[in-house]
Amino acid sequence: MQKITKAVIPAAGLGTRFLPATKALPKEMLPIVDTPNIQYIVEEAVKAGIKDILIIISGSKEAIEDYFDVNAELEMRLKASKKDKQADEIRAITDMANIVYIRQKEPKGLGHAVLSAKPFIGNEPFAVLLGDDLITSDEKPAIGELIAAYYKTNGGTILGCKRVSKDVLHKYGVVKPVKDGTKGLFEINDFVEKPKDPSLAPSDVACLGRYVLPGCIFDYLEKTKAGVGGEIQLTDAIKASMETNPCYAKIFTGTRYDIGDKFGYVKAIIDFALKREDLGKEVKDYIKQLAKTL
Ligand code: G1P
Repeated sequence: MQKITKAVIPAAGLGTRFLPATKALPKEMLPIVDTPNIQYIVEEAVKAGIKDILIIISGSKEAIEDYFDVNAELEMRLKASKKDKQADEIRAITDMANIVYIRQKEPKGLGHAVLSAKPFIGNEPFAVLLGDDLITSDEKPAIGELIAAYYKTNGGTILGCKRVSKDVLHKYGVVKPVKDGTKGLFEINDFVEKPKDPSLAPSDVACLGRYVLPGCIFDYLEKTKAGVGGEIQLTDAIKASMETNPCYAKIFTGTRYDIGDKFGYVKAIIDFALKREDLGKEVKDYIKQLAKTL
């Protein structure tokens, strides 16, 4: 069985939900307190042992490339003012992984973006991490759990999932387990992108932005026509690939934040701030005080 050594992070979206900030700043660079959210996505892949990462960008996303590049002048200035710790921290961001970039030329959807990774991936299985889904975990990183499931299933396609409430099913790709009452890791035989009505959803198990895909997915993506929202959907290609590669849902254990949504983004900032040693106590006291006035 082939090893998983590469990850793809699609980051070409316009981020219109975060205008006006995203007029000049890629949404992936919006900070969770002081750290651009894309750093957490890259760290998740690195924690799972993946160092070769492709970020799919589009026009005006240079800030992402600059962020992961060396900033020699800033390092020099920090060192000159005896801020060695900060200098080391910004260097560590660059050394963390081997990051390359490909541009998605037209905004034709997630499937189209992933297809543009073909020259980087070749015919290997690979991981995909979507930036809108920020997942924290005290144990194994979510993508690491999916990779373990890939080996356990002898090379199955793996979708990172959680059960969600009926009212939000329309926002996600929803899977159909082969057998009822399954949990943890289970085979699926259908995958429906954004069901309009809960009655059209094959279950309450939604795919939340983590995938391990077989190399053959590119053959299916090439044949995939525009689907929901007029976009080339990764979900449709995965569904078609089930004819040759069995597909499984893995219920990951971490906490997931939908940071593509304003409220989800605010929640992530609050939770991350509460967990920080340098800020946690202050933020907690403030929230307690504030709660009394609400
Ligand atoms: C994408 C996928 C969808 C998945 C979701 C996870 O949708 O198409 O299947 O459930 O990510 O967040 P998007 O939110 O990019 O429209």
